[in-house]
Amino acid sequence: MTTIKNAWDTKHYRFNDLGAYDLTPASFLVDKVPFFKSKGVKRVLDAGCGQGRNCAYLLDQEFQIYGVDSSSSALLLCERLMDSKCRPSRDLSQPSRYHLYNYRLEELDHIFAPDSLDAVVSVTVLTHILDAEKVIHQFYRALKVGGYVLADFANPKDSTYRYISKGERIGNNAFLEEGTTVVYRNKREVKSLFPRDKWEILELSPVKFTEPPHPGSRPFEHEHCSYAMLARKK
Ligand SMILES: C[S@@+](CC[C@H](N)C(=O)[O-])C[C@H]1O[C@@H](n2cnc3c(N)ncnc32)[C@H](O)[C@@H]1O
Repeated sequence: MTTIKNAWDTKHYRFNDLGAYDLTPASFLVDKVPFFKSKGVKRVLDAGCGQGRNCAYLLDQEFQIYGVDSSSSALLLCERLMDSKCRPSRDLSQPSRYHLYNYRLEELDHIFAPDSLDAVVSVTVLTHILDAEKVIHQFYRALKVGGYVLADFANPKDSTYRYISKGERIGNNAFLEEGTTVVYRNKREVKSLFPRDKWEILELSPVKFTEPPHPGSRPFEHEHCSYAMLARKK
């Protein structure tokens, strides 16, 4: 497996107690749930689901959830969380309302048939992927025509930029943070990831949201300044 997977496993998800993690869903995702419901969205991929705080919220909101993450430690936590939510009402005659996959987002075509998802949400993930174009192409392939992507991209005003940009530089506004990659993109760079022949951009706006302390890395509350993209597959 890749160094990215190893670094996420050994750093971010090194505590295997779910109680160590804050499970509050990301506010910009919560804000978009009424929109998804109004559009009849049912099958949602949480791309880079981590310990599952957003998967769990979306499950509560009655979506059918697919969670994918390259970190096996994260997926174990996520599985435990999702299981705890479903167990009381588990009807084994019904198909499961969630499915988790230990895969890289670059390989989503190994999991999903083309045109099979209504929406992809990806929270604080593409900021950590250098070749976001490749991953967004996978989102495009897996989405139905008219399906949605909601994803955030940290920009250089992010509170972490000040100290992460002092570390090892690996590209234009891209750095290593204890083995994981962090890329800061401006609005033009985010826009260029969603070419007009493939995507209709519905919203591309700056968002600020506070992240709880992550026990294994950045163990302090921090504020993200990102561009949140809501785009529809043409
Ligand atoms: C900052 S965490 C965010 C987790 C979750 N989305 C949340 O909001 O709590 C980034 C996640 O992306 C995952 N990740 C990073 N690169 C990945 C890749 N290429 N494929 C799949 N998952 C990846 C990491 O394992 C980690 O769980």
